[in-house]
Amino acid sequence: MIFEETFTLPNGVEIPKLGLGTWRIADDAVVSIVRDAIGVGYRHIDTAQAYANERGVGEGLRAALSVGGMARDDVFLTSKLAAESKSYDDAKQRIDTSLNTLGVDHVDLMLIHSPQPWAEFRDGARFDEGNLEAWRALEDAYAAGKLRAIGVSNFERADLDNLLDNGTVAPMVNQILAHVGNTPFDLIDYSRSKGMLVEAYSPVAHGAVLQNARLAALAEKYEVGIAQLCIRYCLQLGLLPLPKTTNVDHMRSNAALNFEISGADMETLKLADNTDYGAASAFPVFGKKRHPDARH
Ligand SMILES: NC(=O)c1ccc[n+]([C@@H]2O[C@H](COP(=O)([O-])OP(=O)(O)OC[C@H]3O[C@@H](n4cnc5c(N)ncnc54)[C@H](OP(=O)(O)O)[C@@H]3O)[C@@H](O)[C@H]2O)c1
Repeated sequence: MIFEETFTLPNGVEIPKLGLGTWRIADDAVVSIVRDAIGVGYRHIDTAQAYANERGVGEGLRAALSVGGMARDDVFLTSKLAAESKSYDDAKQRIDTSLNTLGVDHVDLMLIHSPQPWAEFRDGARFDEGNLEAWRALEDAYAAGKLRAIGVSNFERADLDNLLDNGTVAPMVNQILAHVGNTPFDLIDYSRSKGMLVEAYSPVAHGAVLQNARLAALAEKYEVGIAQLCIRYCLQLGLLPLPKTTNVDHMRSNAALNFEISGADMETLKLADNTDYGAASAFPVFGKKRHPDARH
Protein backbone atom coordinates (compact mmCIF):
# COMPACT_ATOMS: atom_id res chain seq x y z
CA MET A 1 0.00 0.00 0.00
CA ILE A 2 1.51 3.31 -1.11
CA PHE A 3 0.54 5.09 2.11
CA GLU A 4 2.93 2.88 4.07
CA GLU A 5 5.87 3.42 1.72
CA THR A 6 8.53 6.04 2.34
CA PHE A 7 11.63 7.56 0.80
CA THR A 8 14.52 8.35 3.12
CA LEU A 9 16.01 11.84 3.07
CA PRO A 10 19.81 12.31 3.36
CA ASN A 11 19.49 13.01 7.09
CA GLY A 12 17.60 9.73 7.68
CA VAL A 13 14.13 11.32 7.98
CA GLU A 14 11.46 9.17 6.30
CA ILE A 15 9.02 10.90 3.97
CA PRO A 16 5.81 9.20 2.76
CA LYS A 17 5.99 8.47 -0.98
CA LEU A 18 2.68 10.09 -1.87
CA GLY A 19 1.72 13.60 -0.74
CA LEU A 20 -1.48 15.60 -1.11
CA GLY A 21 -1.04 18.98 -2.79
CA THR A 22 -3.10 21.89 -1.46
CA TRP A 23 -2.34 24.73 -3.89
CA ARG A 24 -5.40 26.86 -4.65
CA ILE A 25 -7.50 25.27 -1.92
CA ALA A 26 -8.91 28.03 0.28
CA ASP A 27 -8.07 28.17 3.96
CA ASP A 28 -11.61 27.26 5.07
CA ALA A 29 -12.11 24.52 2.48
CA VAL A 30 -8.77 22.86 3.17
CA VAL A 31 -9.77 21.89 6.73
CA SER A 32 -12.13 19.09 5.73
CA ILE A 33 -9.99 18.15 2.72
CA VAL A 34 -6.92 17.54 4.87
CA ARG A 35 -9.03 15.73 7.48
CA ASP A 36 -10.61 13.52 4.78
CA ALA A 37 -7.27 12.85 3.09
CA ILE A 38 -5.74 11.66 6.35
CA GLY A 39 -8.85 9.57 6.90
CA VAL A 40 -8.35 7.98 3.47
CA GLY A 41 -4.76 7.19 4.46
CA TYR A 42 -2.61 10.10 3.24
CA ARG A 43 0.29 10.77 5.60
CA HIS A 44 1.94 13.65 3.77
CA ILE A 45 0.46 17.10 3.13
CA ASP A 46 2.12 19.79 0.99
CA THR A 47 1.31 23.44 1.67
CA ALA A 48 3.12 26.79 1.42
CA GLN A 49 3.05 30.25 2.88
CA ALA A 50 1.95 31.45 -0.56
CA TYR A 51 -1.13 29.21 -0.52
CA ALA A 52 -2.56 31.19 2.42
CA ASN A 53 -4.04 27.99 3.83
CA GLU A 54 -1.55 26.92 6.50
CA ARG A 55 -4.05 27.72 9.26
CA GLY A 56 -6.65 25.44 7.67
CA VAL A 57 -4.10 22.70 7.00
CA GLY A 58 -3.16 22.74 10.69
CA GLU A 59 -6.80 22.63 11.74
CA GLY A 60 -7.50 19.74 9.37
CA LEU A 61 -4.50 17.88 10.73
CA ARG A 62 -5.67 18.31 14.34
CA ALA A 63 -9.22 17.26 13.37
CA ALA A 64 -7.88 14.07 11.80
CA LEU A 65 -5.61 13.28 14.72
CA SER A 66 -8.43 13.75 17.23
CA VAL A 67 -10.61 11.08 15.59
CA GLY A 68 -7.89 8.83 14.25
CA GLY A 69 -5.93 7.98 17.36
CA MET A 70 -2.79 9.19 15.65
CA ALA A 71 0.08 11.36 16.78
CA ARG A 72 1.38 14.54 15.14
CA ASP A 73 4.41 12.69 13.82
CA ASP A 74 2.25 10.19 11.94
CA VAL A 75 1.66 12.91 9.33
CA PHE A 76 4.48 14.53 7.36
CA LEU A 77 3.92 18.24 6.87
CA THR A 78 5.71 20.29 4.22
CA SER A 79 5.56 24.05 3.87
CA LYS A 80 7.46 26.53 1.75
CA LEU A 81 9.12 29.81 2.54
CA ALA A 82 7.65 32.60 0.40
CA ALA A 83 9.56 33.13 -2.85
CA GLU A 84 9.84 36.83 -2.04
CA SER A 85 11.67 36.19 1.24
CA LYS A 86 15.33 36.80 0.46
CA SER A 87 16.80 38.15 3.68
CA TYR A 88 17.79 36.28 6.85
CA ASP A 89 15.57 38.24 9.24
CA ASP A 90 12.51 38.10 7.01
CA ALA A 91 12.93 34.37 6.42
CA LYS A 92 13.47 33.66 10.12
CA GLN A 93 10.31 35.54 11.01
CA ARG A 94 8.28 33.82 8.28
CA ILE A 95 9.42 30.37 9.40
CA ASP A 96 8.19 31.13 12.93
CA THR A 97 4.94 32.51 11.50
CA SER A 98 4.41 29.27 9.58
CA LEU A 99 4.82 27.24 12.78
CA ASN A 100 2.32 29.49 14.57
CA THR A 101 -0.16 29.52 11.72
CA LEU A 102 -0.03 25.77 11.30
CA GLY A 103 -0.22 25.40 15.08
CA VAL A 104 2.68 22.94 15.27
CA ASP A 105 6.00 22.98 17.10
CA HIS A 106 7.87 21.63 14.10
CA VAL A 107 7.41 21.31 10.35
CA ASP A 108 8.77 18.14 8.74
CA LEU A 109 10.09 19.83 5.62
CA MET A 110 10.46 23.49 4.69
CA LEU A 111 11.47 24.50 1.18
CA ILE A 112 12.53 27.80 -0.38
CA HIS A 113 9.56 28.10 -2.75
CA SER A 114 11.48 29.57 -5.67
CA PRO A 115 14.96 30.97 -6.37
CA GLN A 116 13.32 34.12 -7.74
CA PRO A 117 10.36 36.08 -6.37
CA TRP A 118 7.34 35.14 -8.51
CA ALA A 119 7.22 38.51 -10.27
CA GLU A 120 10.72 37.79 -11.62
CA PHE A 121 10.43 34.04 -12.09
CA ARG A 122 12.93 32.84 -14.72
CA ASP A 123 13.58 36.41 -15.87
CA GLY A 124 17.33 35.88 -15.73
CA ALA A 125 18.18 37.81 -12.56
CA ARG A 126 20.09 35.81 -9.94
CA PHE A 127 19.28 35.96 -6.26
CA ASP A 128 22.31 34.09 -4.95
CA GLU A 129 22.86 36.33 -1.93
CA GLY A 130 19.18 36.40 -1.02
CA ASN A 131 18.85 32.65 -1.40
CA LEU A 132 21.87 32.13 0.86
CA GLU A 133 20.32 34.38 3.49
CA ALA A 134 17.02 32.52 3.30
CA TRP A 135 18.91 29.23 3.39
CA ARG A 136 20.84 30.28 6.50
CA ALA A 137 17.51 30.97 8.22
CA LEU A 138 16.32 27.48 7.24
CA GLU A 139 19.60 25.96 8.45
CA ASP A 140 19.25 27.69 11.82
CA ALA A 141 15.61 26.60 12.21
CA TYR A 142 16.70 23.07 11.27
CA ALA A 143 19.47 23.15 13.89
CA ALA A 144 16.94 24.43 16.45
CA GLY A 145 14.62 21.46 15.74
CA LYS A 146 11.83 23.60 14.29
CA LEU A 147 12.26 21.91 10.90
CA ARG A 148 13.07 18.20 10.53
CA ALA A 149 14.40 18.62 6.99
CA ILE A 150 15.10 21.49 4.61
CA GLY A 151 15.17 21.85 0.85
CA VAL A 152 14.27 23.93 -2.16
CA SER A 153 11.75 24.16 -4.97
CA ASN A 154 12.04 25.30 -8.58
CA PHE A 155 15.82 25.48 -8.18
CA GLU A 156 17.90 25.05 -11.31
CA ARG A 157 21.44 23.75 -11.39
CA ALA A 158 23.15 27.12 -10.74
CA ASP A 159 20.75 27.89 -7.88
CA LEU A 160 21.56 24.51 -6.32
CA ASP A 161 25.29 25.04 -6.78
CA ASN A 162 25.06 28.36 -4.93
CA LEU A 163 23.68 26.61 -1.83
CA LEU A 164 25.89 23.54 -2.20
CA ASP A 165 29.05 25.65 -2.50
CA ASN A 166 28.25 28.24 0.14
CA GLY A 167 25.78 26.68 2.59
CA THR A 168 26.47 24.48 5.57
CA VAL A 169 23.68 21.94 5.07
CA ALA A 170 23.04 20.57 1.56
CA PRO A 171 19.42 20.81 0.36
CA MET A 172 17.67 17.49 0.96
CA VAL A 173 14.82 17.96 -1.53
CA ASN A 174 14.22 19.75 -4.83
CA GLN A 175 10.49 20.04 -5.59
CA ILE A 176 10.00 20.74 -9.29
CA LEU A 177 7.45 20.67 -12.08
CA ALA A 178 7.56 17.13 -13.46
CA HIS A 179 4.86 15.12 -15.18
CA VAL A 180 4.20 12.96 -18.22
CA GLY A 181 5.15 15.15 -21.16
CA ASN A 182 7.36 17.56 -19.25
CA THR A 183 9.99 15.76 -17.20
CA PRO A 184 13.26 17.67 -16.65
CA PHE A 185 15.53 14.61 -16.65
CA ASP A 186 18.82 16.53 -16.52
CA LEU A 187 17.78 18.54 -13.48
CA ILE A 188 16.42 15.41 -11.82
CA ASP A 189 19.73 13.60 -12.42
CA TYR A 190 21.75 16.56 -11.17
CA SER A 191 19.65 17.02 -8.02
CA ARG A 192 19.99 13.31 -7.26
CA SER A 193 23.73 13.34 -7.89
CA LYS A 194 23.90 15.84 -5.02
CA GLY A 195 21.88 13.59 -2.74
CA MET A 196 18.48 15.23 -3.06
CA LEU A 197 15.11 13.56 -3.26
CA VAL A 198 13.16 15.02 -6.19
CA GLU A 199 9.48 15.75 -5.68
CA ALA A 200 7.16 16.08 -8.68
CA TYR A 201 4.69 18.91 -8.39
CA SER A 202 1.66 19.10 -10.67
CA PRO A 203 2.04 15.37 -11.46
CA VAL A 204 -1.15 15.44 -13.55
CA ALA A 205 -0.08 18.67 -15.26
CA HIS A 206 -2.52 20.74 -13.21
CA GLY A 207 -5.26 18.75 -14.96
CA ALA A 208 -4.01 19.50 -18.49
CA VAL A 209 -3.45 15.81 -19.30
CA LEU A 210 -6.89 14.62 -18.27
CA GLN A 211 -8.44 15.00 -21.74
CA ASN A 212 -5.50 13.48 -23.63
CA ALA A 213 -6.84 10.66 -25.85
CA ARG A 214 -3.51 8.82 -26.14
CA LEU A 215 -3.00 8.81 -22.40
CA ALA A 216 -6.61 7.69 -21.98
CA ALA A 217 -5.94 4.69 -24.24
CA LEU A 218 -2.78 3.77 -22.32
CA ALA A 219 -4.53 4.17 -18.97
CA GLU A 220 -7.31 1.89 -20.19
CA LYS A 221 -4.74 -0.81 -20.97
CA TYR A 222 -3.82 -0.83 -17.27
CA GLU A 223 -7.46 -0.43 -16.23
CA VAL A 224 -6.68 2.80 -14.40
CA GLY A 225 -7.45 6.49 -14.88
CA ILE A 226 -5.13 9.04 -16.48
CA ALA A 227 -4.30 10.59 -13.11
CA GLN A 228 -3.28 7.19 -11.72
CA LEU A 229 -1.11 6.53 -14.76
CA CYS A 230 0.63 9.89 -14.35
CA ILE A 231 1.20 9.41 -10.62
CA ARG A 232 2.55 5.89 -11.15
CA TYR A 233 4.88 7.25 -13.88
CA CYS A 234 6.42 9.63 -11.33
CA LEU A 235 6.90 6.88 -8.78
CA GLN A 236 8.55 4.58 -11.33
CA LEU A 237 11.01 7.40 -12.06
CA GLY A 238 11.76 7.55 -8.33
CA LEU A 239 10.00 10.91 -7.94
CA LEU A 240 7.69 11.75 -5.06
CA PRO A 241 4.35 12.85 -6.58
CA LEU A 242 2.17 15.52 -4.98
CA PRO A 243 -1.24 15.27 -6.70
CA LYS A 244 -3.80 17.82 -5.59
CA THR A 245 -7.44 16.93 -5.36
CA THR A 246 -10.43 18.20 -3.43
CA ASN A 247 -12.43 15.09 -4.27
CA VAL A 248 -12.38 12.14 -1.87
CA ASP A 249 -12.96 9.60 -4.67
CA HIS A 250 -9.97 11.05 -6.51
CA MET A 251 -7.91 10.89 -3.29
CA ARG A 252 -8.64 7.17 -3.18
CA SER A 253 -8.05 6.42 -6.87
CA ASN A 254 -4.85 8.50 -6.91
CA ALA A 255 -3.51 6.19 -4.23
CA ALA A 256 -4.56 2.98 -6.03
CA LEU A 257 -1.17 2.46 -7.58
CA ASN A 258 -0.69 -1.26 -7.36
CA PHE A 259 0.18 -1.74 -11.02
CA GLU A 260 3.40 -1.61 -13.02
CA ILE A 261 3.86 0.44 -16.21
CA SER A 262 5.95 -1.61 -18.65
CA GLY A 263 9.41 -0.42 -19.66
CA ALA A 264 8.22 0.21 -23.23
CA ASP A 265 5.25 2.26 -22.06
CA MET A 266 7.49 4.25 -19.70
CA GLU A 267 9.63 5.16 -22.72
CA THR A 268 6.51 6.28 -24.60
CA LEU A 269 5.42 8.38 -21.65
CA LYS A 270 8.86 9.98 -21.33
CA LEU A 271 8.57 11.14 -24.94
CA ALA A 272 5.01 12.45 -24.67
CA ASP A 273 4.53 16.18 -25.01
CA ASN A 274 2.05 17.85 -22.73
CA THR A 275 2.98 21.40 -22.04
CA ASP A 276 -0.21 23.18 -23.05
CA TYR A 277 -1.50 24.25 -19.65
CA GLY A 278 -4.37 26.27 -21.08
CA ALA A 279 -5.59 29.01 -18.75
CA ALA A 280 -3.07 27.87 -16.11
CA SER A 281 -0.24 29.18 -18.35
CA ALA A 282 -0.82 32.49 -16.60
CA PHE A 283 0.91 31.08 -13.51
CA PRO A 284 4.69 31.60 -13.53
CA VAL A 285 5.38 27.89 -13.02
CA PHE A 286 3.47 27.01 -16.21
CA GLY A 287 4.54 30.04 -18.21
CA LYS A 288 6.34 30.07 -21.52
CA LYS A 289 9.73 30.18 -19.83
CA ARG A 290 10.29 26.47 -20.14
CA HIS A 291 12.94 24.88 -18.05
CA PRO A 292 16.19 24.72 -20.04
CA ASP A 293 16.75 21.21 -18.74
CA ALA A 294 13.40 19.98 -20.07
CA ARG A 295 14.21 17.48 -22.82
CA HIS A 296 10.77 17.24 -24.32
N1 LIG B 1 6.57 24.22 -5.59
C1 LIG B 1 5.83 24.82 -6.50
O1 LIG B 1 6.18 25.88 -7.05
C2 LIG B 1 4.52 24.20 -6.87
C3 LIG B 1 3.83 24.63 -8.03
C4 LIG B 1 2.64 23.99 -8.35
C5 LIG B 1 2.17 22.96 -7.55
N2 LIG B 1 2.83 22.58 -6.42
C6 LIG B 1 2.33 21.50 -5.53
O2 LIG B 1 1.90 20.40 -6.30
C7 LIG B 1 0.52 20.15 -6.04
C8 LIG B 1 -0.17 19.59 -7.25
O3 LIG B 1 -0.07 20.44 -8.35
P1 LIG B 1 -1.33 21.12 -9.04
O4 LIG B 1 -2.27 21.50 -7.98
O5 LIG B 1 -0.79 22.14 -9.98
O6 LIG B 1 -1.94 20.06 -10.00
P2 LIG B 1 -2.11 18.47 -10.21
O7 LIG B 1 -2.06 17.71 -8.95
O8 LIG B 1 -1.19 18.10 -11.30
O9 LIG B 1 -3.59 18.48 -10.80
C9 LIG B 1 -4.68 18.91 -10.04
C10 LIG B 1 -5.93 18.86 -10.90
O10 LIG B 1 -6.16 17.52 -11.30
C11 LIG B 1 -7.46 17.11 -10.88
N3 LIG B 1 -7.38 15.71 -10.46
C12 LIG B 1 -6.55 15.18 -9.53
N4 LIG B 1 -6.77 13.85 -9.42
C13 LIG B 1 -7.76 13.55 -10.29
C14 LIG B 1 -8.44 12.35 -10.64
N5 LIG B 1 -8.13 11.18 -10.05
N6 LIG B 1 -9.40 12.40 -11.58
C15 LIG B 1 -9.71 13.58 -12.18
N7 LIG B 1 -9.12 14.74 -11.90
C16 LIG B 1 -8.15 14.74 -10.96
C17 LIG B 1 -7.84 18.02 -9.76
O11 LIG B 1 -9.23 18.21 -9.71
P3 LIG B 1 -10.13 17.63 -8.48
O12 LIG B 1 -9.81 18.48 -7.30
O13 LIG B 1 -11.52 17.79 -8.99
O14 LIG B 1 -9.75 16.20 -8.29
C18 LIG B 1 -7.14 19.31 -10.16
O15 LIG B 1 -7.95 20.06 -11.06
C19 LIG B 1 0.00 21.52 -5.60
O16 LIG B 1 -1.24 21.44 -4.97
C20 LIG B 1 1.13 21.97 -4.73
O17 LIG B 1 1.05 21.32 -3.47
C21 LIG B 1 4.01 23.17 -6.08
